Amino acid sequence: MSKSVLSVLEGKRQAVPPVWMMRQAGRYLPEYREVRAKAGGFLNLCFTPELAAEVTLQPIRRFGFDAAILFSDILVIPYALGREVWFVEGEGPRLEPLNDAQALEGVSGDIDEKALVPVYETVRRVKEQLPKDTTFIGFCGAPWTVATYMVAGQGTPDQAPAKELAKREPDAFQELIDRLVDASASYLAAQLKAGVDVVQIFDTWAGGLPADDFERWSVQPTKQIVAKLREKLPGAKVIGFPRGAGEKIPRYVAETGVNAVSLETAIDRDFARREIQSHVPIQGNLNPETLRAGGDALDREIDAVLEAFSSGPFVFNLGHGILPDTPIANVERMLKRVRGSA
Ligand code: CP3
Repeated sequence: MSKSVLSVLEGKRQAVPPVWMMRQAGRYLPEYREVRAKAGGFLNLCFTPELAAEVTLQPIRRFGFDAAILFSDILVIPYALGREVWFVEGEGPRLEPLNDAQALEGVSGDIDEKALVPVYETVRRVKEQLPKDTTFIGFCGAPWTVATYMVAGQGTPDQAPAKELAKREPDAFQELIDRLVDASASYLAAQLKAGVDVVQIFDTWAGGLPADDFERWSVQPTKQIVAKLREKLPGAKVIGFPRGAGEKIPRYVAETGVNAVSLETAIDRDFARREIQSHVPIQGNLNPETLRAGGDALDREIDAVLEAFSSGPFVFNLGHGILPDTPIANVERMLKRVRGSA
């Protein structure tokens, strides 16, 4: 058996599209909640290879997804750059905020590689135990998205603090982005060397940027990461996820050189098929809320996604992460319908 997700990324359409879910290791699974409680802090879970490998493998054992995604978080990079990072139960991540140019200068230039060694150990452990036909996906956050959390010190609805700082102190902000580019490229290269098959760059907040800023803060840094990565590892495979970038995605694909692109729910599927899938394989884009709702509405939306995309190279996925209160039976229903679709 070959790795079906990898085949799609090489441009080979599969009769039944391979399927995995963003955030497939997470709180909707009782077995995850159990390990999470044992681990103490969330970062502790990310940095304990035995536990991180276990939660990476849980959804593979339970559902037989075609890809496993490394269990970690995009905020391990700020942590390795010397920032304090912690997670508040039920709320989300917290970091010491960066308010001005002086604070930006305080971000260390070099990544503390030692801090990330446990992540590479997780990769090796998962690889040993993963079925041979399951594609293994590593990841990082895109510099813009990671910077939005570093600047605000937490998640924000509109990323206003980072947008303001980028306007007020463009040079200092560029420095921060450059550091994140270097750190992310070496982090992804190390994940690939340790055993992942492909990496995904999550630009969750790309959609909030006007065209010029999108070009400067999302496209260019991603392009640099891809180029640096392929300098070290020619042929490295990358999935881009510029969430919410809509009509700007064809340009993102052409500029960055990503092998495939993940699509969020709101994109127009006809546009995506015509203007994106005609150039690169795509992944997505079932609405996580529809998955949570289940029933006929779920069946109908699965059919619409398949109808739109399964005539070309396509990986079935959600448009964003699975919601924590999603019934497991709905995930089973989704898998049955997708896999019975040929
Ligand atoms: O299964 C997987 O997808 C692999 C692991 C993974 C996590 N985070 C684990 C996680 C991945 C790929 C991420 C990416 C990530 N992390 C992104 C980009 C993708 C996206 O969802 O937009 C972002 C923005 C983050 C930052 C982050 N981490 C936030 C905003 C939160 C809080 C929100 C939430 O869902 O709780 C986290 C915590 C987090 N990362 C959890 C998990 C499973 C939940 C933590 C817990 O168990 O309490």
